[in-house]
Amino acid sequence: MEILNIKTASKDYSVVVGKNLIQRDNFEESKNREVFLTVDENIPENLKQKVIRILEEEASKFSMLEIKATEENKSYSSLEVIHDSLINAGYSRNCILYALGGGIICDMTGFAAATYQRGVDFVLIPSTLLSQVDASVGGKTAINHKIGKNMIGAFHQPTKVISDVNFLMTLEPKEIRGGLAEIVKHAIILDKKFFDWLEHNIEGLLACDEGLYEYAVSKSIKLKESVVSRDETEKGIRKWLNFGHTFGHAIEIYGQYKQFSHGEAVALGMMMAINLSIKTSGLDIKSATRIKELVKNILNEELIEKQFNPEELYKMMSSDKKKIGEVLNFITVKDIGHAEIIKDIDSETILKSITL
Ligand code: GLY
Repeated sequence: MEILNIKTASKDYSVVVGKNLIQRDNFEESKNREVFLTVDENIPENLKQKVIRILEEEASKFSMLEIKATEENKSYSSLEVIHDSLINAGYSRNCILYALGGGIICDMTGFAAATYQRGVDFVLIPSTLLSQVDASVGGKTAINHKIGKNMIGAFHQPTKVISDVNFLMTLEPKEIRGGLAEIVKHAIILDKKFFDWLEHNIEGLLACDEGLYEYAVSKSIKLKESVVSRDETEKGIRKWLNFGHTFGHAIEIYGQYKQFSHGEAVALGMMMAINLSIKTSGLDIKSATRIKELVKNILNEELIEKQFNPEELYKMMSSDKKKIGEVLNFITVKDIGHAEIIKDIDSETILKSITL
């Protein structure tokens, strides 16, 4: 077990990473507190019951809400249900919310905590690889709006994060691949040595080796911390974490949020961002090939052969309603481990990058 300290301008907290973490010792924040748990209804029953038992015993008051974790349910109405449950049961400002689930449950519970009585504490127990290495660290909380994903939200840091790698052993390969895309992203933009390690261990990671995940999750969180500790609210270098995302968001829209998972879209987007990096940031061909080979490893074959119509994808990039009033900016790498922000790229260069 490892305890990582996350420092941000607004709050410091710890992320516990390891195996078998669903034990009373890791739940001290719930002791004699009014506790409300939101849980993804797909969490395996034994793990869910373990968390519930501990919270019931530790808390002075306990209730919970099971939610089907879909993008449609990451909504105003689900938020209202959470707030109504808290108000109807008389939860005070001293209460603490727990979230057990993936990014949807973590983001929405975080936003419910950010807004209930102007902000209460919350603890995250991320259950997917993607949420363990991304959503649970850095305090981005949100719900969706019909105009776009995560349009309504706040920066609100958790009190603690419990990242138990046992949860990962229950995931479908598609979910593992989606999380690996974000881990690989952290290496590409921030850490060449970790990139080498991933190249070396990709087979074991795809085979879901628990020991490898303890290291990969912890390393990935440390890398994300090195960014959010310097830029909590994404005024500058936190934008690096959007590597592959400008293309990736357009790919998600292109597939109407059904054809590609977020992780798959980001992986495909990273391939395009590498093409762009060669043109705009002087990334050498040898490094570009290494990066693309590693990313290809985490995509299934059908996706690698996918072809996108550049004009159509570009249109989706520029019409992404979240980008209205903003210039399109891209994150590129000049070398493995060194990201940069690029603005004002001509459309021809972008169009030429839209290939795998
Ligand atoms: N997912 C990117 C960030 O947390 O900033």
